[in-house]
Amino acid sequence: MTTTAKAVGIIGLGTYYPENIVTNKDLEKILDTSDEWIVERTGIRERRVADQNTATSDLATEAARKALAAAKIDAKDIDLIIVATATPDMFFPSVSCLVQANLGADNAAAFDLTAGCSGFVYALVTATQFIRTGVYRRILVIGAETLTKIMDPTDRSTYVLFGDGAGAAVVAEVPQGYGVLGAHLGADGKGGDLLKVPAGGSRMPTSEETLRKRLHYTHMNGNEVFKFASRIVNEASVKALEDAHLTADKVDFLVPHQANVRIIQSAAKRLKLPMEKVIVNIDRFGNTSAASIPIALEEAIANGRVKPGDTVVLVAFGAGLTWAACVLRWWSA
Ligand code: ACO
Repeated sequence: MTTTAKAVGIIGLGTYYPENIVTNKDLEKILDTSDEWIVERTGIRERRVADQNTATSDLATEAARKALAAAKIDAKDIDLIIVATATPDMFFPSVSCLVQANLGADNAAAFDLTAGCSGFVYALVTATQFIRTGVYRRILVIGAETLTKIMDPTDRSTYVLFGDGAGAAVVAEVPQGYGVLGAHLGADGKGGDLLKVPAGGSRMPTSEETLRKRLHYTHMNGNEVFKFASRIVNEASVKALEDAHLTADKVDFLVPHQANVRIIQSAAKRLKLPMEKVIVNIDRFGNTSAASIPIALEEAIANGRVKPGDTVVLVAFGAGLTWAACVLRWWSA
């Protein structure tokens, strides 16, 4: 007797981001930068920024509510919540536990996953395994960040890049032929120093000195991350496509992590994909880290670009270093 593995995919998506828009012109007033430099070097025009009273779990909860509504699923029917984030409300409890309480998802297990900007795709692939093996039936996968809170407002090379937001997906069994067709996850811990928040953890607990040296903020070697990203987006996409027994010419849409439009353009070129097939919204959101892919995907579905049956590649890279790609055949309930 042959058994076919369960097909697993996204049955509802939701996003949420702060109302407050900070434009490049706004940043010109506080930093030695210009709208022209930021647009030309990154493609970013504006970003959403959370206020003092808004934490990552607030954004995650609102995105999750919308995803549950889209999937027509009650919170009590969720078996597991995975939140991918690099900016939790606090060390513990986890954001996923805070979200579980906010939603009243009393029957769900909950854990956070740390894979930098690759977190949403890592979490989606993780969730897929639980459902494929029959352990769980419905999982909430959330990418949520308030990156602007860990950026140094005096550092023009990082402060202009990031924004806040959240995207959530309900993951469940879908009809055969749809959902996750293939995936590839990777990491290179040797590159950890290229992008990190040095202080505030067990290696260097917060002290007056770490605060004075601004080590509680994000430190990044932008040029090295750029080189890594331009290479890995292509490599990870190809490996995920191989896992799905597909080639790049079969891709309807690429949904890349939104970190820099030049990284996205270079990846599209290497994959020989025209930019019409690439989802880009970095101009309005900046880099929202683990939230960038679900926000871009949800928008592309809402405006009718991605349709049921389309083959979509999600691909991300981030701190760690990490990377992750996933091939989906889009399913709409
Ligand atoms: N405004 C004006 N000038 C600036 C700014 C700014 N905001 N930022 C840097 N500059 C200056 C630099 O000081 C430098 O000046 P100098 O030549 O006088 O020294 C000049 O611009 C060029 O700097 P570069 O760093 O070479 O600029 P580059 O074109 O490489 O762009 C950037 C920098 C945008 C950071 C790019 O390297 C990049 O996007 N890297 C990838 C970053 C990334 O993707 N990070 C996220 C990873 S995912 C995650 O997990 C968070």
